[in-house]
Amino acid sequence: MNDNHTMANKAAWEEAFDRRVNAFGEDHAARLLTEDRAFLHPVVWDALEGMKLQGESIGQFCCNNGRELMSVVKHASAREGIGFDLAGNILAQARGIAAAAALPCSFIEGDACQAPEIYHDRFALVLITIGALCWMKELPPFFDKVAACLQSGGHLLIHEAHPITNTFAVPQEEEYDAAEPARMVHSYFRRDPFVDSYGMGYLAGETYESKPFISFSHTLGSIVTAVARSGLRIERLQEYNEDISGETQPLDGKGVPLSYLLLARKV
Ligand SMILES: C[S@@+](CC[C@H](N)C(=O)[O-])C[C@H]1O[C@@H](n2cnc3c(N)ncnc32)[C@H](O)[C@@H]1O
Repeated sequence: MNDNHTMANKAAWEEAFDRRVNAFGEDHAARLLTEDRAFLHPVVWDALEGMKLQGESIGQFCCNNGRELMSVVKHASAREGIGFDLAGNILAQARGIAAAAALPCSFIEGDACQAPEIYHDRFALVLITIGALCWMKELPPFFDKVAACLQSGGHLLIHEAHPITNTFAVPQEEEYDAAEPARMVHSYFRRDPFVDSYGMGYLAGETYESKPFISFSHTLGSIVTAVARSGLRIERLQEYNEDISGETQPLDGKGVPLSYLLLARKV
């Protein structure tokens, strides 16, 4: 992990987890034990239908506390789940949840782009969900690693915020106008990073003066191209006008593309 932005993001995510409120994660083991499909969005569950995952190995890049990965592993009766994430303290919680819910999942700390070679050709599914791609400065090394880790015939499933949402201001930015939340204030083609120090509200329950989070905007074209060039065959790209980040809630259902699902396969 040599990139400065990756080191900075590790520190910012670990700080955010240390400030967590509302007992974040503490009910996840109980929910995994008692609920089927405890986590993940319905469009993801729909997309997983028909994939043969029983007895297979499943990976998640940028897995956070692993709740989504463990939910799929349980639902599909997979052989194992392997989650990759930067944040050591969040992964410690993930390991505790896996033990308490008796799920065969393990968690690897580090930059997902550097996932060790022992995970190559391993996964029948690599899962990537909301809030993952924005931390990658460049997409090709990330998707090249995803492709390397998939077994032949394996699926990549991405469910993410639509890149157009990066052109809107968030409430913490001075350009934000609650009366016009879809006003374009950043170029769709922006390459400069966003450097934000207002914390990670969904964990901390508030804004706070945080260590810097460094994120990047990627156009839909650059995402599709990086997936295709990694050698995966794109099978589906579907856009939705549904807010999945919470940051574009005022636009939910109003005809603006707010999220997407991309499915690709290693042939
Ligand atoms: C918003 S979560 C995404 C996962 C899931 N959708 C969720 O909400 O829990 C973002 C995660 O990405 C991780 N992350 C950021 N950059 C990463 C990198 N280069 N490699 C692995 N994990 C990374 C962070 O530590 C954080 O746990």
